[in-house]
Amino acid sequence: MAEQNLYPPSREFASRAHIQSLDEHRRLCDKARQQPEEFWQELAERELHWFERWTKVFEWNPPFAQWFTGGKLNASYNCLDRHLSGPRKDKPAIVWEGEPGEERIISYAELHRMVCRFANVLKGRGLKAGDRAVIYMPMVPEAAAAMLACARLGVTHSVVFGGFSAEALKARIEDMGAKTVITADGGWRRGKIVELKAAVDEALTELEVRDVIVLRRTGHPVPMQAGRDYWWHELEQSVDDGCPAEPLDSEHPLFVLYTSGTTGKPKGIVHATAGYLLQTTLTMKWVFDLRDEDVFWCTADIGWVTGHSYVVYGPLSAGATVVMYEGAPDFPQFDRWWSIVERRRVSIFYTSPTAIRALLKQGDRWPEAHDLSSLRLLGSVGEPINPAAWEWYYRVIGKGRCPIVDTWWQTETGAILISAMPGAVPLKPGSATLPLPGVEAEVVDLNGNPVPRGEKGFLVIRRPWPSMLRTILNDPRRYEEQYWSRVRDSYFTGDAARQDEDGYFWILGRVDDVINVSGHRLSTMEVESALVRHPAVAEAAVVGKPDEITGQAVCAFVTLKAGRADHDGLAAELRQWVAHEIGSFAKPAEIRFTEALPKTRSGKIMRRLLREIVTSHAVTGDVTTLEDLSVVNRLAAQHDEE
Ligand code: WTA
Repeated sequence: MAEQNLYPPSREFASRAHIQSLDEHRRLCDKARQQPEEFWQELAERELHWFERWTKVFEWNPPFAQWFTGGKLNASYNCLDRHLSGPRKDKPAIVWEGEPGEERIISYAELHRMVCRFANVLKGRGLKAGDRAVIYMPMVPEAAAAMLACARLGVTHSVVFGGFSAEALKARIEDMGAKTVITADGGWRRGKIVELKAAVDEALTELEVRDVIVLRRTGHPVPMQAGRDYWWHELEQSVDDGCPAEPLDSEHPLFVLYTSGTTGKPKGIVHATAGYLLQTTLTMKWVFDLRDEDVFWCTADIGWVTGHSYVVYGPLSAGATVVMYEGAPDFPQFDRWWSIVERRRVSIFYTSPTAIRALLKQGDRWPEAHDLSSLRLLGSVGEPINPAAWEWYYRVIGKGRCPIVDTWWQTETGAILISAMPGAVPLKPGSATLPLPGVEAEVVDLNGNPVPRGEKGFLVIRRPWPSMLRTILNDPRRYEEQYWSRVRDSYFTGDAARQDEDGYFWILGRVDDVINVSGHRLSTMEVESALVRHPAVAEAAVVGKPDEITGQAVCAFVTLKAGRADHDGLAAELRQWVAHEIGSFAKPAEIRFTEALPKTRSGKIMRRLLREIVTSHAVTGDVTTLEDLSVVNRLAAQHDEE
């Protein structure tokens, strides 16, 4: 790696950081490797509040792990109650801004009260530990409060991103077996109302739940179904301010979050309480170097894992002030985020490369119109960050003063696993740098043998870590197959990577049929299944196409049923159809009608060829297994004509 690309921590930053040198970093990694039980035990004692101590730090019955078994704790207690006995009581927990401009500053004491009251509402509706609820809400403080209220009672929540359609919501409510849905009359996005309640109604036309609890956010009228739908504020009128936090087993399922895998059906990733909370809390210090005076802003929606771990559980457990913003980054104009950074004095800012690229494209005048001097640390997540975007983020946003932590992790890993500790590890733009202590990451071939430095291979994690997913809801076999059977005794991440001569990790993207659009995970099969449900479509094949802003974009090859003609109107209709079936963010950027799809003799669609067509515009490599070569030639030729 060229020297000029190395960014060591400044002495000033390092001298105040939680972890101040590479030596300290190494010592932690060594200890985690050599004495894992002591290592995690000490951290669990120091970082979390326990009602009862564990009897065993760690149990591993491959592929199932348990951490801190026998212990009892509560995530909501850790995020709220434990801060109330000291000065954090009146510290802002959430600083919220609505898209239209309203502001709310909610202290830890006030958030505690909000959560207790809503937990009492849930209790009043008969919910108790072991039950399940789905949360489908805009980015408002009540969304975080709903999660924490569930956690307080031991109700396992599944938050569904507000951008998912009614169809997608329905599948998740069904798989969860949820009896309660918590939603809002809508939320604001780019000056328009996102009709969340209407989507819930549509999802529930053929599915029954006991209760739908509706927050009044926008105030626009929504139909309420008697006996099923209740206003949050009405139910709340008759409840107490106090609600004790339930002592729950360490392994109690805190939440399920659906994510895309290689098949059309999303996987319900199950996270347990103690291990998840420990690693999300710890990474607030290790990675974000959190101090009490920091103002922390992670721009992710709570519907994604980044929002779970770094808007709600991690920062609140660590006692941070969290900024939460409801709407779009470009509303009313391209400087909304920079204006928030300035006005809220944000010191730690965490976002995705897609957002950085989109804002970069608008030019420097937007950030330059604002005082960004409160920033001291920047973060990136969700996809590889290209050096040009990194440099812009570093110079124009961070003014060359702020380290950038490029954090690699997944819905399944629960917390950040590979990232610089900013006071210790020199940065290289585009590299997530080094695994955190306790994370045994390696780049291997399919036999599990490490590949030589510099070569591409599969990224695996050799040993279970506390915030690891516990299983896939309703599908333990898929859990085993997906994560633990590709490479022996290792967790298979699904990412390709290489390690350079300094041991730094460079993440190269997915090796499976998952594509990453704006940092959102999408399964190509999920989009294909949606397309073939349309009456005009015979077959569909979806691949990721490189995109300057979103990293990858959805490109769909579609064959039509006999008698259906391809026309522009149909392409638009199909794009809309995908939005309806999954959500707007899954809309194909491009639809290409074709007479046939390239297939192997056994009938499998050769996506590799289609990928080559959309990336290099030419087909190379071995095509001898093709059933009908002319199909490929025609597709390639069609592209050349464009
Ligand atoms: C990708 C998001 C490169 C990766 C937290 C992973 C990254 C998938 C990075 C998980 C990064 C995440 N550099 N690629 N810093 N962070 N990814 O489950 O392909 O939505 O497997 O979790 O995003 O996406 P997920």
